[in-house]
Amino acid sequence: MSYPTVELSSVRKTFGPTVALGGCNLTAYAGEVHAIIGGNGSGKSTLAKVISGVLIPDSGQVSILGKSATSPHEARQLGISNVFQEVLVADECSVLDNLYLGADGLLGSSMNREEKEAKASALMRELLGFDINLSGLVGELPLSVRQWVTIARALLTDPKVLILDESSAALDFDSTERLFRKMRQLKQRGASILIVTHRIAELVRIADRATVFARRRGCRQAGEGRDYRGQDSRTDCRCRAQRHKS
Ligand SMILES: Nc1ncnc2c1ncn2[C@@H]1O[C@H](COP(=O)(O)OP(=O)(O)O)[C@@H](O)[C@H]1O
Ligand SMILES: [Mg+2]
Repeated sequence: MSYPTVELSSVRKTFGPTVALGGCNLTAYAGEVHAIIGGNGSGKSTLAKVISGVLIPDSGQVSILGKSATSPHEARQLGISNVFQEVLVADECSVLDNLYLGADGLLGSSMNREEKEAKASALMRELLGFDINLSGLVGELPLSVRQWVTIARALLTDPKVLILDESSAALDFDSTERLFRKMRQLKQRGASILIVTHRIAELVRIADRATVFARRRGCRQAGEGRDYRGQDSRTDCRCRAQRHKS
């Protein structure tokens, strides 16, 4: 039976006067692809960063497999891997070094260089559809390949919860298909995949459930004479996707 991997309850996060998350509730389960959808600035990336320990909420509870993480390192140890919206690579380093960046003590420490290379090159071939020179500098690669490096880096940690924050934005159709195939494999192994997307077609093809972020910005409440900012996050909406999937 499926069990919750990530549970957020009344999570609030502000940046000065900006309410990025205004009381967010979300539950993600093992073995599901959970889409996070909403307009620009509705708090999706903030949510991803709160789950992955990068941002600490002002209030509310975040539980990851029953535990809480107060740093990215702790979140990684609990099995969270976040592919950030910003393509975070070290341009001056090789593909191989980028793939194992930040992995100290988690993975790779028990593998020698040959083992790391073999694992990395097999995964990159599977994701890209062709072989890549692992010694080449990442800065010389096109954006789509750099995006794959960030995705592969997350996959190499064998995450229990994988967050993809608009990660398919720079990928073409065939590449997105390969990503989806990988996501289904992870899901079958019991992982949760949280996919932040604004592409409805993707949501329909891959997601089991969705959380919708809506934001009412600058609505003037009658009679009060001041701006009102608020946010609804509705989770557990069963996707129509389910009906369309084979
Ligand atoms: N580090 C930050 N400092 C100040 N404001 C931020 C920061 N990160 C996000 N915000 C603001 O919080 C709101 C939500 O941002 P974000 O989570 O990136 O939205 P989304 O990913 O849905 O587009 C936006 O108004 C954004 O400008
Ligand atoms: Mg974002």
